[in-house]
Amino acid sequence: MTFHDVVVIGGGGAGLRAAIAVAETNPALRVAVVSKVYPMRSHTVSAEGGAAAVAADDDTLDEHAYDTVSGSDWLSDQDAVEAFVAEAPRELLRLEHWGCPWSRQPDGRIAVRAFGGMKKMRTWFAADRTGFHLLHTLFQTALSYTDIVRYDEWYVTKILEDDGRAYGVVAIELATGRIETITASAVIVCTGGCGRVYPFTTNANIKTGDGMALAYRAGAALKDMEFVQYHPTGLPFTGILITEAARAEGGWLLNKDGYRYLQDYDLGTPSPTPVLRSMELGPRDRLSQAFVHEMDKGNTIDTPYGPIVNLDLRHLGAKLIDAKLPFVRELCSKYQNIDPVKELVPVRPVVHYMMGGIHTDIRGATSLDGLYAAGEVACVSINGANRLGSNSLPECLVFGNRAGRAAAVFAARYRNVVPKSIEAQGRDEVRRLTEELSRHADGHERIADIRTEMQTTMENGAGIYRDRDSLAKAADQLKELQLRFAHAAIDDHSTNFNTELIALLELGFMLDVAESIIACALQREESRGAHQRTDFPARDDERYLAHSLVHREPDGSSRITYLPVTITRWPPGERVYGR
Ligand code: FUM
Repeated sequence: MTFHDVVVIGGGGAGLRAAIAVAETNPALRVAVVSKVYPMRSHTVSAEGGAAAVAADDDTLDEHAYDTVSGSDWLSDQDAVEAFVAEAPRELLRLEHWGCPWSRQPDGRIAVRAFGGMKKMRTWFAADRTGFHLLHTLFQTALSYTDIVRYDEWYVTKILEDDGRAYGVVAIELATGRIETITASAVIVCTGGCGRVYPFTTNANIKTGDGMALAYRAGAALKDMEFVQYHPTGLPFTGILITEAARAEGGWLLNKDGYRYLQDYDLGTPSPTPVLRSMELGPRDRLSQAFVHEMDKGNTIDTPYGPIVNLDLRHLGAKLIDAKLPFVRELCSKYQNIDPVKELVPVRPVVHYMMGGIHTDIRGATSLDGLYAAGEVACVSINGANRLGSNSLPECLVFGNRAGRAAAVFAARYRNVVPKSIEAQGRDEVRRLTEELSRHADGHERIADIRTEMQTTMENGAGIYRDRDSLAKAADQLKELQLRFAHAAIDDHSTNFNTELIALLELGFMLDVAESIIACALQREESRGAHQRTDFPARDDERYLAHSLVHREPDGSSRITYLPVTITRWPPGERVYGR
C-alpha cells in the first residue's frame, strides 16, 4: 500500500492543473497523478480551436457570462458561470507566463477569434493546435514540482470509499499487471468524458467514461447526463474534428445544392464575412439539429460513411488557411485526401462532449467527502444543456485549479487518517480483478460485439433527437448488454500490457455511463439544448429548470432526483441568434 496526500486520476488539462494547484497551495503535500496514458497523450492534446476568456477592451465578463448562460439554454448554474468568466482571463494569462505560445496580433497583443454562440471575439488560440500547446505548458510546469509523482500508464479500477468518504484508489500498472492500493486523504477525478459510448465521436479511444463510472460506483451522484453534445463538423470516416475555428475564420456550410442552408433555421442571413452568433457561428446544438432537418428534406449527400454536408473554405485562400488553420489542412489531407484550399470538406455532426458528469459544487467537491472532480468528467455546471465551443479548455483550468486548492485544504486537515477497512477493500479489489480474469476466461461473448451494440444503441436511442420509444428501447437493450457483458470472453491471460482486460473494464464503465444517460433522458420530458425530445418539443421551465441527479442504488439500478438551477442575474429567456 502506498500513501499520497492527494491522488489525481487523469493527466490531461484539468488533472495537471489540479496537481499544480495542490503543489502551489501546500508544498508539504505529496501528490500523485495516475493516468492510463502518458500525460501528453491525454485527449486535451487534440483540442484545436481555442480557449475563451475576456481579453479585449470592448468585451465584458457579463457578456461572456450571458453568452454562456443563454448558450446553455439556462441550465447552467450562474454562480459557477460568474466565477468561471472572472477567473478564465487570469488562468490564460498564467499559462502565458508558464510558456504557452498564444497567437498574437501584429502589434503583439493576444489574438482572439470568434467562436460559436459568442457575441464577442474572445477565443484565445495557438493556431489550431491550442490543446497541444496548453497541455505541453501544463506538463512542463508540473515537471518542475518534485512533489508531483506520476503513475503513467496505470489504470484505476476503484475509488476506495468508507462511510461516505474517499480514501484513494486501486490501480493496475499496465506494463506489469501489478495491482496497487494507493491511499490518499483526497482524490480528484479528471479523466475527461465518455464520447466512446457512441459509435461516431471526435473523442480518443481512451475516453470511456472511467471517472464518471468510478465516482458513481463509489456513491457520488452524476448530473445532467442526458446532455450529449454533437459538434457539427466531423470528418465522415474517422470522426476527426474540423474545428469551429474554420467557420470562425469564414467557412460556410453548404447542402447538396451548394446552398448555405443555415439561413433557413432562424440563425441569420448569409453575409460574405462571418457575423457573430449568426449562421455558421450559431451554437452547436442548433447547427447539429439543422443538419438533421436538411437530411430529412433530402438535402444532404449520401456517402459510404453516412450523409454529409460540405464545409467550404476555398474562398479563405491558402495564406489564411496556412496561418490560422494549418492543422485543418493537414487533417483533411492525411485523413480525407483532400486539400481544403481547393476542395470542399465533407462533414457531419459527431459526438464531441458531455455536458453532464460527476455532480460537483463550485469548488469541485462531489457528494462524497474528500472526492473532487474537474474538467469534462465533472458537471459544475457552467455548460448546462449546451456548451459553447472554447469554454471547455478554460473550464479545465479554472475548475482544475479550484478543485486542486479545495482538495489541498481538505487533505491537510485530514492527513494520514486512513481507516483499517481501506486496506481490506484494497485486498478485495485485487481478489475481484483476479477472479474477473479467470471468470471471463470461460466467457463466450466478444467484447467488441457488445461495445459495438452499445454504441449503436446509444446513437439510435439517444442521438440528436430522441423520444420515449427510442429511449425505452435503448434502456432495454442496455440491460440485455449488461447481462451479456457478464459472459464476455478474455483470451489474453498475460500480465504485461493486457489491453484486452483493460477493454473489458472500460466496457463495464461505459455500460454504466450509457445507462445513466438513457435514464436521465427518459425522465426529462422537455426539449432543451442538446436534449431534443420529439415527443416533448418545447422547453418546460415549470418542471425542468433543474439538474438531473442520478444515484446508484445498492442493487445497481439508478434513481433520479432533481436539483434547482442557480439563477443569480439572468432569468430564463428566449435563445436568440442571428439577430
Ligand atoms: O471546434 C473546436 O475547435 C472545438 C472546441 C471546443 O470544443 O471547445
